[in-house]
Formats: sequence, structure tokens, C-alpha cells
Amino acid sequence: MSRSAHPAGPRHADVLPEGHYAAPPADLNTLDPRVWSRTVTRAADGAAEVGGLDVRALAEEFGTPAYILDEADFRARCRAWRAAFGHDADVFYAGKAFLSRAVVKWLNEEGLNLDVCSGTELAVALDAGMPAERIALHGNNKSYAEIERAVSAGVGRIVLDSFQEIARVAAEAARQGKRQRVQIRVTVGVEAHTHEFIATAHEDQKFGLALAGGQAAEAVRRVLKLESLELAGIHSHIGSQIFDMAGFEVAARRVVSLLAEVRDEHGVELPEIDLGGGLGIAYTSDDDPREPQEIAKALGEIVTRECEAARLAVPRLSVEPGRAIVGPTAFTLYEVGTVKPLEGLRTYVSVDGGMSDNIRTALYDAEYTVALVSRTSDAEPMLSRVVGKHCESGDIVVKDAFLPADLAPGDLLAVPATGAYCRAMASNYNHALRPPVVAVADGAARVIVRRETEDDLLRLDVG
Ligand code: LLP
Repeated sequence: MSRSAHPAGPRHADVLPEGHYAAPPADLNTLDPRVWSRTVTRAADGAAEVGGLDVRALAEEFGTPAYILDEADFRARCRAWRAAFGHDADVFYAGKAFLSRAVVKWLNEEGLNLDVCSGTELAVALDAGMPAERIALHGNNKSYAEIERAVSAGVGRIVLDSFQEIARVAAEAARQGKRQRVQIRVTVGVEAHTHEFIATAHEDQKFGLALAGGQAAEAVRRVLKLESLELAGIHSHIGSQIFDMAGFEVAARRVVSLLAEVRDEHGVELPEIDLGGGLGIAYTSDDDPREPQEIAKALGEIVTRECEAARLAVPRLSVEPGRAIVGPTAFTLYEVGTVKPLEGLRTYVSVDGGMSDNIRTALYDAEYTVALVSRTSDAEPMLSRVVGKHCESGDIVVKDAFLPADLAPGDLLAVPATGAYCRAMASNYNHALRPPVVAVADGAARVIVRRETEDDLLRLDVG
């Protein structure tokens, strides 16, 4: 591809972003395998392919915007997590990242367990055949109905989040004549290096019971007194999109010291600890996530070392990755509409979706990358902002991106790493119809979550 020292298209030193997009990438046509799902390639004619299928054919058949999910990649990631943690640990996929019946089936086949955080996620899990004993129920405000449903289904664990909930779950289990396995979610006081809204282990927030100040120890005391609860262990989740293992290390150390206190006070060694999810993925080529193998090794070593120091038997470890499994496996396919160059600033490239299918940029200032996928181009890089079609200026999908200057309406763009928290957090803002999720594998595509229709929306609107 030809490149001049002064790329064409609007470009102004004052608006040039820092970091990933401070300069155009060497080749706009390259699809960096760190960011794109595993089976994404460029075909001979330049269009991108995934799962052996041409994205132009996918757009033709399923329309845009659409989330295209690479099933082989999803399964490979499940297997990598399973293999890395081995038989002495459990991997609970965090369904909040993206849940559908097909996903539950894949998880089941690949030997993963499932974390749900609402009665309706639980309903999907059960409907799709996940055995209840492999399901964990989370949530800081579980309703009586959710507790009733989880206990009667026989979920393997309910993760308790408050004193009130201890009493509620105990009462419900007693009413049903059952002994419910539970974990207590503690906040370990770690400041995770991530966006404030997705950090969860500092004390001033709504989740869990604090280790500092003794709330967690008091929760243990209460649970151990209740006949209808079986205290299986302690749970900690420090936040999301974290790269640095240091936070997990501190969390593990503090959780193990609670286990030692519990042993000293009650003579009971709790058999499980769960260190939550939160492992980061590559949204841009600058991100450098840890591999499951490395994560498993680091966590296993910390827990073993701390337990040996406290003379505790090493408990069964579990983790709850959501984003790290599903995030990299999907991209969002959009069609380009209006292309509006702003002289001296940048070019606004509007696509046929926006904040209704990806709220993360607006909400967390998230960084994404984007590529022209219906063809390659040798045109000069053009500093662009990919925006949606919603009625607000914050409706940004990709803040800063270089796209080829010959970009035109009808071209297809794809934004990678949208498998987690995009369809899951999609909305009907401006009565947008939420896009489908299309699973591709081995040259075949199938809709696993269909596109909403006007009829769907009108059915809800009862007049
Ligand atoms: N376990 C618990 C108890 C959690 O609360 C979460 C995420 C996870 C596991 C999974 O975390 P992951 O591995 O996916 O990072 N909407 C935000 C993320 C919120 C995460 C909430 N809890 C985002 O789009 O970044």
C-alpha cells in the first residue's frame, strides 16, 4: 500500500489522539490476530472471512448491524481455560458478558460451569440444559422470587452479598426443606486499575461484605449457625478488564487469611475459594492480555503458597471469566452510511447501529479498533470517528480510527472484540431493533439470537 508522509483526509495536530491511534497503523488492511477472532482472514479478493464465510455474504443474508460470533474461537477459549485450570479447579463462565441458549450448550459440552446474576439468566441456563449443580447465582439484590427459583432448581451455589440475604436464603432453603450451598462474597479492599464503574473490590461500592471492619467475618459467623446453609467458601471479584495480576494476588492473600481466621475461630476449613472474573482482553493492538495458562499458574501458585503459610489445606479454586472467553470471539458488522469530513478535524463515519448495540464507548470511554472489511483499499489513511445513528453526539462507537480515505456509503466496517457486554447491554434507544447474533463455524452460519423486529417492539407497547 502506498503511503505518503502526509496522509490525505482531515488531520489536525490538535485533535490527534494519543496512544493507539496517534499515528496510522502500517497497513490499514491488516487484521491483527490479537484483536480479531481466530478464524478471521482476508480472502484473495480482499474481503474479510470468518469461519470460512465472506462477510459480504453474511451482511447480505443477515443484514447489518449484526454481531458475528466465531464458534470455533469460543470453544477453543473454553477449552484453553478448562485445560489451564485442570481438574482441581472450576471455570464458571460469567453469563452477563453474553448469554444465549447456544452458548449454554457450548459451555456444557466444553465442561464449563456458569455464573448467572438474575432469575432470567438462570431461566436461560436451565432451559438450555445446564445442570443446576453447575450454576452459581450472583447479585447484590436478589429478589425473593430469584432466591426461591435458584433454591428449588438446586443451583450449586448462591453467592451471598449482604446480611439480609443470608437470612433470606436461609429462610427459603428451610422452607423448601433443603440445605443450600453458599459462598460469601467479600470485598478485599483492592483498587483495581480499571474504569471506576467496573471496579468492585474497593470498599465504597455496593457489592459484597468488607473484610476490613469484620463484616465478612461476621457473615461467616451467621452462616455457620444456620442449619439450612452449607458454607462452601469465600468469593472475591475485584473488577473487570484487568491486565495486572497484582490485584488478584492481594485478593487471594486476603481471602486465604480470612479462611485461616475462620479455621482459628470455628475450627472449620472452608473447601472453596472463588477469585471471580475480570481478566482483560485486547481491544486494540496495544493491549497485551495474559493467557489462561499463565493466569491459572499465577493464581494456583499464590493460593498454594498462602495456604501453606497458613497451614491450610489448599481449597478448590474457581474463576469466573466472561469477557476473556466471549469478548474476542465476535465482531460487529456495520454498513457505512453518511461520511462527513470536518475540515481540520476528522471524518465522521456513520454506521447503521451505534450506542444501542455498543454502549461501552459512551459509558466507559472504551477503546475499539475498526476495519474496512468488504474490500481492501490502498487509499491514504483518514483520521475518522465511527459514530452511530442515534440522536446524541456521544453516540460514538470508535473514538479514533484511521480508515481509508476512499471509504464510501455501502462499505462494510467491522469492530472487533464486541463479544462481551455489547449484545448483553444493547438497548432499544430511538426504537433501534437489537441486532442478531450470528454464529459461524466451518463454512456455515446460523442465527443464535435473532434480530428484533418492529412487531417485537409494537407487541410490548400495549397502547
Ligand atoms: N464474576 C462476577 C461476580 C462479576 O461481577 C463479573 C462481572 C464477572 C465475574 C465477569 O467479569 P469479566 O471476566 O467479564 O470481566 N459492563 C462492563 C463489565 C461489567 C462486569 C460486571 N461483572 C463492561 O462492559 O466492561
